[in-house]
Amino acid sequence: MTSEDDRGRLSGDQRAAMLAAMRRGSPPAARPRETAPPRGNWDTSFVSLPGYRSMTTHLVAGEMLGIANPFHRLHESRSGAHATIDGRDCLNFASYDYLGLNGHPQVTEAVAAAAAEWGTSVSASRLTAGERPAHRALEHEIAALYDADAALVFVSGHATNVSAIAALIGPKDLIVHDALAHNSIVVGAETSRGQRRLYPHNDLDALERLLEANRHKFERCLIVTEGLFSMDGDGPDLARLVEIKERWGAWLMVDEAHALGVLGATGRGIAEHAGVDPRRVDIWMGTLSKTLVGCGGYIAGATALIDYLKFHAPGMVYSVGMPVPLAVASLTALRLMRAEPERVARLQAVARRFLERARAAGLDVGESWGHAVVPVVVGDSIRTVVLADRLFARGVNAFPIIPPGVPERSARLRFFLSAAHTDDDVDRAVAMVAEELGRLVEEGVSVTALSAMLK
Ligand SMILES: Cc1ncc(COP(=O)(O)O)c(C=O)c1O
Repeated sequence: MTSEDDRGRLSGDQRAAMLAAMRRGSPPAARPRETAPPRGNWDTSFVSLPGYRSMTTHLVAGEMLGIANPFHRLHESRSGAHATIDGRDCLNFASYDYLGLNGHPQVTEAVAAAAAEWGTSVSASRLTAGERPAHRALEHEIAALYDADAALVFVSGHATNVSAIAALIGPKDLIVHDALAHNSIVVGAETSRGQRRLYPHNDLDALERLLEANRHKFERCLIVTEGLFSMDGDGPDLARLVEIKERWGAWLMVDEAHALGVLGATGRGIAEHAGVDPRRVDIWMGTLSKTLVGCGGYIAGATALIDYLKFHAPGMVYSVGMPVPLAVASLTALRLMRAEPERVARLQAVARRFLERARAAGLDVGESWGHAVVPVVVGDSIRTVVLADRLFARGVNAFPIIPPGVPERSARLRFFLSAAHTDDDVDRAVAMVAEELGRLVEEGVSVTALSAMLK
């Protein structure tokens, strides 16, 4: 890994080495070490890993354009609608604190009391080290959100998908998911020993065709989608999906990571938004790290599903139980969400305002529904990264997403809105994006221009 100074810049030596490596077409040489000569011609350097070179290319390209590395930035304040970075207050559009609950006094006080009473670790898997009242209370209230029999919380949202999918799908089964599904769904599908197929984003006609051609070849079938997609801010037609999965004898799993607290009049997610009975979805998945300002994930559904996962999901059986203070953080946030639906209404108003202002300014917001996640699609990767850098210099933190995170030529800045943003925050941010993007177009900043510089 490259080392950097405090401001994310590469040192002169590193930059020179990387530039030389890029031009040579090989990664920078590793620091020589005193080791016994190898007996074969094996490459044991980490810099020869395929991903190392592309990572280096991005860093060097950024350096050539005078851009600070936006990755792994040090934030000097808690995550929310504002952030202190490099000693400056920024308007923050890179936080999932959708309802403005991170640091809410009730959450913080409940967490402090829980830490004092229960400590910070439950020490081992719940299977062996046992459960605590907070686990059960949180699971009970999560299940109630979906009118489900039961729920189960895991210590990582990512591991929840990987573990649950891999535990449910075997070699004779089929898993079909939206092509833009989150990495945790993809890894879960790859880890399972089932056959994996993708359908184009939200294209339910294509899903039907796929099932028509393949369903009969498999025992079980799992369809996975998201309630609200984090790269695009849109979602599926849930009513039709439910009808499809019932007709084709499949389970339907919906990842509510970005839908909980965001969609529906009281924030209960896509089922509430779409007016669909949540019991018609077999597996509800969500994360505790976003609206619920904690860390971890959950599955909610039928009693048999939850009982099965308690004994068969590796991330449950072989991983530590959730620390009580974190369970209490999410439980308190969930209760605040239920008690104060005006937070959800405010988030929805803020996001709608962002979407409308952005459209009026001629920005491409793709298919976003205008609920918490609004991308500004720029297309060109370099232009996107420079745009993020210039906005950052003006006190707006919005994260650039470039391929392979999104399809080629669809690089974008992603704006996560929060109930804690003001109308003025939104108006100022949109105006700055439009202004800076216009400038970059005039200056001709693009991948092509950078490639010409590198020749
Ligand atoms: C759709 C989706 N599912 C799962 C996860 C994983 O959740 P976590 O970051 O809490 O591990 C994320 C993370 O952002 C996500 O966007």
